[in-house]
Amino acid sequence: MFRTHTCGELRLDNAGINVTLSGWVQRTREFGGMTFVDVRDRYGITQLVFNMSTDADLCEKANKLGREFVIQAKGTVSERTNKNPNLPTGDIEIMVNELTILNASKVPPFLVEEETDGGDDLRMKYRYLDLRRNNVQNNIILRHRVAQEARRYLCDNNFLEIETPFLIKSTPEGARDFVVPSRMNPGEFYALPQSPQTFKQLLMVSGFDKYFQIVRCFRDEDLRADRQPEFTQIDCEMSYVEQEDILQMFEGLLRHVFQAIKGVDLGEIQRMDFDDAMRLYGKDKPDTRFEMTFVELNDVAQNKGFKVFDAAELVVGICAKGCGNYTRKQLDGLTDWMKRPQIGAKGLVYVKCNEDGTFKSSVDKFFGQEELKAWADKMGAKPGDLLLIVSGNKEKARKQMGELRLEMGERLGLRKADEFKALWVLNFPLLERDEEAGRWNPCHHPFTRPQKGFESIENWGDIKADAYDFVLNGNEIAGGSIRIHERGLQEKVFELLGMSEEESEEKFGFLMGAFEYGAPPHGGIAFGFDRLCAIMGGAESIRDFIAFPKNNSGRDMMIDAPSLIDDEQYAELHILPNAELAD
Ligand code: AMO
Repeated sequence: MFRTHTCGELRLDNAGINVTLSGWVQRTREFGGMTFVDVRDRYGITQLVFNMSTDADLCEKANKLGREFVIQAKGTVSERTNKNPNLPTGDIEIMVNELTILNASKVPPFLVEEETDGGDDLRMKYRYLDLRRNNVQNNIILRHRVAQEARRYLCDNNFLEIETPFLIKSTPEGARDFVVPSRMNPGEFYALPQSPQTFKQLLMVSGFDKYFQIVRCFRDEDLRADRQPEFTQIDCEMSYVEQEDILQMFEGLLRHVFQAIKGVDLGEIQRMDFDDAMRLYGKDKPDTRFEMTFVELNDVAQNKGFKVFDAAELVVGICAKGCGNYTRKQLDGLTDWMKRPQIGAKGLVYVKCNEDGTFKSSVDKFFGQEELKAWADKMGAKPGDLLLIVSGNKEKARKQMGELRLEMGERLGLRKADEFKALWVLNFPLLERDEEAGRWNPCHHPFTRPQKGFESIENWGDIKADAYDFVLNGNEIAGGSIRIHERGLQEKVFELLGMSEEESEEKFGFLMGAFEYGAPPHGGIAFGFDRLCAIMGGAESIRDFIAFPKNNSGRDMMIDAPSLIDDEQYAELHILPNAELAD
């Protein structure tokens, strides 16, 4: 038997019993004729003790153990004189009488401990070692638990888990496709699914009624901390539902998962119109853990002779509570921050609300105390507060202010990782204009149902959709919609999106055809499973919640993929090898 117990379970109650443990050597220390070895496994760390005076050979053997050796130790559990309150097993140690080296290890390229000295690239190259670190392992274990709880809730609510294919043709979700050449069909390619969207709709046509799948999706898009080229969705679809049914069902899912795993009650889940989210937070995924909402100042700040404001479509500000004592240097720093290309503001106007009731602003030349007071009143500012204002094109000013609000929230410690604030954002526009390409794009995807009035409205940009996002702590963790289930309406939307009849038939004829055979009204949602896990784990990046993630260039550093293939494979796949491409 390799082990009687794990390295995380022995306590004072077990004192006196003989045990066998197996695990990895985290570290060894020699001290006053004794050798202490920390042995680690998935469950925790236990201290082993070797005594020179009782068994010198055994102690010598322990002294030679290197980091990450795999060992088996037999011995007796005993109470520690020097207890470690930071370890669950910290009250005991094992007095070892037999030690077996199960496998040696090379010196690992970085410390396999919570606080590691390994940089990102090195950790990714040796991901199997990185995954031994308890904190990374705990993220993966959290992920497992979230998946199980989500499954439990969905199964209890009568959802069926059904798999859909990976070798398909393009499902448009706004990214590029990863494609796979077909050996048996020369010159033809499969696309990997950006989501199972069309298949889950077809499952509704087939009558499965409530479907879910914890499923990999593939999107060739620019990567960020919250985006991977392959990621996982909890993908769901229901028949005979209205938006309200979906909101209730999936609020329930999130409530269940948070309660079961974190013991957290999500409280009231706010519902916010897309338009309000943009007006008050400048984002369709507002972080509602803190207030600091936008106040529009056009009526009190324009036509007073300050050209920058007068020429602007929008003058908008936030009130940073208690920041009225910001120094000139801090304010210049903030202005520079706003002027960086990522934000792109032309400048930042500030008003300090002094403790004595006076105001000091960067635009004192143009505005008197009375006028500044009117702004402060409108923004609900108190002495000691700081007003920060930008102006310009409405969309841009909101975007810039949205970033500044998050930055100020961060600086003021208002974005706490262990506080959870969820909301639904509703009534998204159906379409968004791509001015460069001169066409309309779907805001969600082209299968989304327009709200009433669709037939009569001239300005397509004003049409709202039955689409909804679930936002948690400023992150979009789910998105969905009620779908179109009639051929005519679907054809019309494709036409609006600039697709010819032939093109929509070629790409989505199968779906529109299915709509002609009794497609029930249906709708659904998909959760970004990696994002949900990362937020529950208090992290921004999803990488450490995926066992084998890719880096920001889409590479797997460990197996070194993507990579070239053999010439024979090129030939078999009917595609040109590199050399010929270069010619
Ligand atoms: P959507 O495109 O909004 O909807 O995706 C659903 C959720 O998936 C997550 N997500 C990602 N997570 C990690 N890396 C990525 N590259 C990535 N892209 C998206 C987000 C997002 O909210 N078929 C529709 C759903 C539906 O209508 O039912 C869809 O895929 O958290």
